[in-house]
Amino acid sequence: MTDNPHKIRLLVVDDIVETRNNLINLLYFERDIEVVDSATRGQEGIDKAKKLNPDIVLMDINMPDMNGIQATEIIMKQVPGVAVIMMSVQGEQDYLRQAMRAGAREFLVKPFSGDELVSSIRHVYQDEQSKRRFAPQTQYQPGTPATPNGAEASQGEIISIFSPKGGIGRTTIVTNLAVAVKQISKKRVALVDGSLFFGDVGIMMDIRNTKTISDLQGRIETLDTQLLQDVMLTHSSELKVLLAPSKPDQGELITADDLKKILKELKNNYDYIFVDTFSSLKEETQLTILDMSDLILTVMSLEMTAIKDIRLFLEVTEILEYPKDKIALVLNRADSKHGLRAENIEATIGHQIAANVSSGGPAVTLSINRGTPLVIDAPDNPFSKDINALAHKIVDGTIGKKEEAATGAKKNGKVKTKKSGGLFGLFARRK
Ligand SMILES: Nc1ncnc2c1ncn2[C@@H]1O[C@H](COP(=O)(O)OP(=O)(O)OP(=O)(O)O)[C@@H](O)[C@H]1O
Ligand SMILES: [Mg+2]
Repeated sequence: MTDNPHKIRLLVVDDIVETRNNLINLLYFERDIEVVDSATRGQEGIDKAKKLNPDIVLMDINMPDMNGIQATEIIMKQVPGVAVIMMSVQGEQDYLRQAMRAGAREFLVKPFSGDELVSSIRHVYQDEQSKRRFAPQTQYQPGTPATPNGAEASQGEIISIFSPKGGIGRTTIVTNLAVAVKQISKKRVALVDGSLFFGDVGIMMDIRNTKTISDLQGRIETLDTQLLQDVMLTHSSELKVLLAPSKPDQGELITADDLKKILKELKNNYDYIFVDTFSSLKEETQLTILDMSDLILTVMSLEMTAIKDIRLFLEVTEILEYPKDKIALVLNRADSKHGLRAENIEATIGHQIAANVSSGGPAVTLSINRGTPLVIDAPDNPFSKDINALAHKIVDGTIGKKEEAATGAKKNGKVKTKKSGGLFGLFARRK
């Protein structure tokens, strides 16, 4: 390591004083490694890691108050760029798995030799350095690592599709959109049927429900990448799908907490996670999906009832304190002539329409009955073109936050975003 003028800065966290001293002594003559400090407790380790920003934390597992696995989890979230090497007298698979899931890079079983220790530290450090070198120095884009070297490197984006009104086109749009995003981005894309009682995703995509979310029932505590992969089904587009239970009574058994854990695990494994929903805010599971969403595609149509419901829903999102840019309005069958103008609707509900989706005519129903999303079978259909345009916006990150910024000028100009005139005002402006 003579070619590296930067010493590897190491923090040792172990509750036993002899072990700490042994480790420090073992490393004393290594010219490229500097022990910057040591800690005796998990929390102290976290505090020192935050303060000193070491390259590597050498972390014991068994410690009083907080164990090394919990401490590692927190460090991985709160101290970007740091790598953890875990040490334990137990070398069992389960410990190893837990350590790796917490984000540890290597696992040393005590007692280990000085050579083993040093080579492990150098190996992890070099690995981190090369990752840093090749990591894109760009800002966070949805679906890409949140921080170049940070803990949330593989956190995906949850995009749910909701509407307070049923039968408005959610499942049709989300099945096509997820396929389109997969085709455009070539990233890891998942689709979850969160319509837990009467999910239609399987039918619309011609996927037999050999496995569903119900197969995770009772196994949530041990949920990990492997288990998740076991229940996800693969569509011909390579999209991964987690189907809703095959019977409504099974849907009732899925709790909000289950769903939360499943979505969290999906975030660790996919770049985009699309989630279909049903029209209920009474169901805890639906609220959980909305809470956890980075973006809620909210589907509406050019009908007074739909507009009224959307307005009420937007009020609910204000009560829930969702940021405005978490909601992206999608106007379905935007080309239908119903005597209402999109601009007037935007003014009435105080929200911009982020995307328009044209009517696909009977071809949409035909595609549903065949079980092949229209974007695959008829990419030139106006519906497919609009879905692809929306997919591009998602992949480019120009929907949500950035779009709000881009359309900010419009807000101050022609299109008013303050609620004005109410629904009756809209009636008056019907054309
Ligand atoms: N843009 C469109 N063009 C043509 N047909 C459409 C369009 N959007 C939706 N449809 C049709 O509307 C019907 C309802 O759509 P879909 O099942 O996707 O709605 P939903 O909101 O998921 O309903 P549910 O409340 O049952 O979950 C379907 O038959 C579909 O073919
Ligand atoms: Mg549906």
